[in-house]
Amino acid sequence: MKHPWDAHFLLLILLHLFGGVTSQVNPGVCRYPLGMSGGQIQDEDISASSQWSESTAARYGRLDFEEGDGAWCPEVTVEPDSQKEFLQIDLRSLHFVTLVGTQGRHAGGIGNEFSQMYKIKYSRDGSRWISWRNRQGQQVIEGNRNAYDIVLKDLEPPIIARFVRFMPVTDHPMNVCMRVELYGCEWLDGLVSYNAPAGEQMSLPAYFNDSVYDGAVIHSMTEGLGQLTDGVCGLDDFSHSHVYNVWPGYDYVGWTNESFPAGFVEIMFEFDRTRNFTTMKVHCNNMFSQHTKAFRQVVCYFRSEADWEPTPLVFNPGEDEQNPRARFVTIDLLHHMASAIKCRFYFADAWMLFSEITFQSDTAMYNTTLAPPKSGLPPNIQPEDDPTHKVDDSNTRILIGCLVAIIFILVVIIVIILWRQVWQKIVEKSETLAYTHNQASTSSEQESNSTYERIFPLVPDYQEPSHIMCKLPEEPASSSTAASKATTTTIVQEGAPHYAEADIVDLQGVTGSNTYAIPTLVMDLLSGKDIGVEEFPRKLLTFKEKLGEGQFGEVHLCEAKGMQEFMNTEFSFDIPEEQTVLVAVKMLRSDADKNARLDFLKEIKIMSRLKDPNIIRLLAVCIYSDPLCMITEYMENGDLNQFLSHHEPEGQLALLSNAPTVSFNDLSYMAAHIASGMKYLSSLNFVHRDLATRNCLVGKNFTIKIADFGMSRNLYSGDYYRIQGRAVLPIRWMSWESILLGKFTTASDVWAFGVTLWEILNFCKEQPYSQLSDEQVIENTGEFFRDKKRQIYLPQPELCPDSLYWIMLSCWRRNTKERPSFQEIHRALLEMHP
Ligand SMILES: *[C@@H]1O[C@H](CO)[C@@H](O)[C@H](O)[C@H]1NC(C)=O
Ligand SMILES: *[C@@H]1O[C@H](CO)[C@@H](O)[C@H](O)[C@H]1NC(C)=O
Ligand SMILES: *[C@@H]1O[C@H](CO)[C@@H](O)[C@H](O)[C@H]1NC(C)=O
Ligand SMILES: *[C@@H]1O[C@H](CO)[C@@H](O)[C@H](O)[C@H]1NC(C)=O
Repeated sequence: MKHPWDAHFLLLILLHLFGGVTSQVNPGVCRYPLGMSGGQIQDEDISASSQWSESTAARYGRLDFEEGDGAWCPEVTVEPDSQKEFLQIDLRSLHFVTLVGTQGRHAGGIGNEFSQMYKIKYSRDGSRWISWRNRQGQQVIEGNRNAYDIVLKDLEPPIIARFVRFMPVTDHPMNVCMRVELYGCEWLDGLVSYNAPAGEQMSLPAYFNDSVYDGAVIHSMTEGLGQLTDGVCGLDDFSHSHVYNVWPGYDYVGWTNESFPAGFVEIMFEFDRTRNFTTMKVHCNNMFSQHTKAFRQVVCYFRSEADWEPTPLVFNPGEDEQNPRARFVTIDLLHHMASAIKCRFYFADAWMLFSEITFQSDTAMYNTTLAPPKSGLPPNIQPEDDPTHKVDDSNTRILIGCLVAIIFILVVIIVIILWRQVWQKIVEKSETLAYTHNQASTSSEQESNSTYERIFPLVPDYQEPSHIMCKLPEEPASSSTAASKATTTTIVQEGAPHYAEADIVDLQGVTGSNTYAIPTLVMDLLSGKDIGVEEFPRKLLTFKEKLGEGQFGEVHLCEAKGMQEFMNTEFSFDIPEEQTVLVAVKMLRSDADKNARLDFLKEIKIMSRLKDPNIIRLLAVCIYSDPLCMITEYMENGDLNQFLSHHEPEGQLALLSNAPTVSFNDLSYMAAHIASGMKYLSSLNFVHRDLATRNCLVGKNFTIKIADFGMSRNLYSGDYYRIQGRAVLPIRWMSWESILLGKFTTASDVWAFGVTLWEILNFCKEQPYSQLSDEQVIENTGEFFRDKKRQIYLPQPELCPDSLYWIMLSCWRRNTKERPSFQEIHRALLEMHP
């Protein structure tokens, strides 16, 4: 069981601090994986109704994991009417769960069980179980359509629970298996239930019942949570709603003074333990034109152990007949200790409507890192331009500013303290990310194996999709809209190295919704259909030179006879027939295990789809017998690094030394070829991860094709950094986020392109950052992350005009979104070289 250090660790801390400060959940931001895939949820906290075998026990039900037999599977076939089977997760404390993810059992292509539908049950105390329903009252959630794709579903409404059960549902008897993940955040309010009189109906009409209340509703509501804690604030005009297609008044729970002769509504709040309360915030409607106002007075009683404190707290907010906006009213609870609070809200007008009530109390956060908040903090960190969430205090922005500053300083301190540790773990993580091809090998194998870790680095890695919004705080706006629309997304998980990255090629654009998965293709491949390339007779290959080797195989330079016959007509070699051509042959060792073989076949499938004049083409394969081979193009001038280091810039010096020369125009021409090839890869959302001159091959007339053998070559072992004798990473070419967060994207390829361009303009006479040790390069990465202007950039090469250096610098921008696309780079290079 791996517990990879999560890439978004720091951001999590940040968010936790925010959570600690405001003690209110913002459902748009509260979308973190809670630890099935990340390993934070321990095996013993995952249980199930039954298991088919020890290797399909509950603990294998982790999204994106392939351990055991690849998923949790119940003992028997799931029948349509029996809903006995469940996979249960104990989160150990109350959590606000906004999203769930499910996946079937794929097990490297062997498994094909998944759950087409499921229900969710949850519990806060482990004894009372509640069936989740969506806002329309439906319980059944649509699940997976195949065994490998991850399907995410927003929970609308979200749930507040410690225990969550996934219950597969079928319409005919079926074998099902599941892997799951929960997304959300800790529920710091600690509220476990509120009891209140049932909401009423206005003659307008508007319905103020608490339609998602999960307790009992007879005359009053007991033992549940509902709309007052769902994180959705009502709009100024209560007859409208955030939620699509519901009745007027949906967001609010409300009462009329006609039904309460005593003049108040009493609501009782129960908490998970005795807490030290600072504030309560009540989100009220104030549409006085409709006889609706916030309350006139609130009187709260506190119960700590068994007894109610004799003297209540009284608070008068004052009436507001000027501003019809809905608002949070903040009540200072003066550090009362309580495990239950009972408040009487007095009518200020005929109607009183609440949409949210939150509590701020001591949490683990306050006694470790931060002082308790002062009253008047915003209840919600909202996008500034969101007009629906107004805050009742004008100082809040300043306070937020101060808090953000404090938090930032804290984060920086934490970063520094944890630096080495974090770094190591992150590298381990990015290593698993980068070398999914080596999944099969255990770490001890990797340690004992000498120089090379992977032989086929161009396993396209896959663009992180839109769900990154679930993890990074920068984009709460988009995720909250997603949440409020109760959308469904099929995504490929970023950050979890195992299954998805190795098996799924994500061809979806950031906005797209299609995910093409490799596994089906692998199945095709195994059954001999549609490989896209032909089988080549081995005897026509003549060994010339070993180009490199890795753990699972070798790369040979060979001559191939009669290759033309075996190639698609669309692809023309400009050489006469019957002549031999140079090819690179990647060979899998015949003793490679099953996983390595499967990966090799996958790579063939992937490679066979890459068709671009600036990408090395897969020409043919030998897969009818061992050793498995793939035959790719090779170019007569070898790799660009060797090529350039044997050339000189045009000029006096070159004339004297009689060395072959390359003009500046040729250099920018080659750079444009690389950009063009990368443009193609990025259009498929393939991420190369090891773009460098050593991986570019030079053909006639300075044509360039991008390849991927660099890492397997002894010659370039100095370009890779070895961590704890295990992973090798081309750190001098890697973006800060690839090194620190393990994130490989097209934007990190753009970064590497900037370094490649720099190498080219230096004629590859110098390694990037040659004056820095590997450790210093990593430190410099930290400076890029901290962005305190202490980061060192590669210097402007002598030959390099300002315009070109400017392109390099733009590739190394800290913010990935500000880096140019390959399309833009390609265009700029073409303009430079008409
Ligand atoms: C709330 O009121 C609406 C509108 O009358 C109704 O459709 C819905 O079933 C009610 N929900 C509950 C839980 O009472
Ligand atoms: C509640 O917290 C405040 C602020 O940390 C502290 O001053 C006070 O003593 C606490 N009250 C109790 C009863 O612990
Ligand atoms: C309810 O409030 C309205 C407006 O303040 C007032 O006119 C009316 O008398 C109240 N009704 C009761 C029963 O208190
Ligand atoms: C903070 O306080 C809570 C409860 O008061 C306690 O459970 C927790 O262990 C404390 N945390 C630390 C780090 O002292």
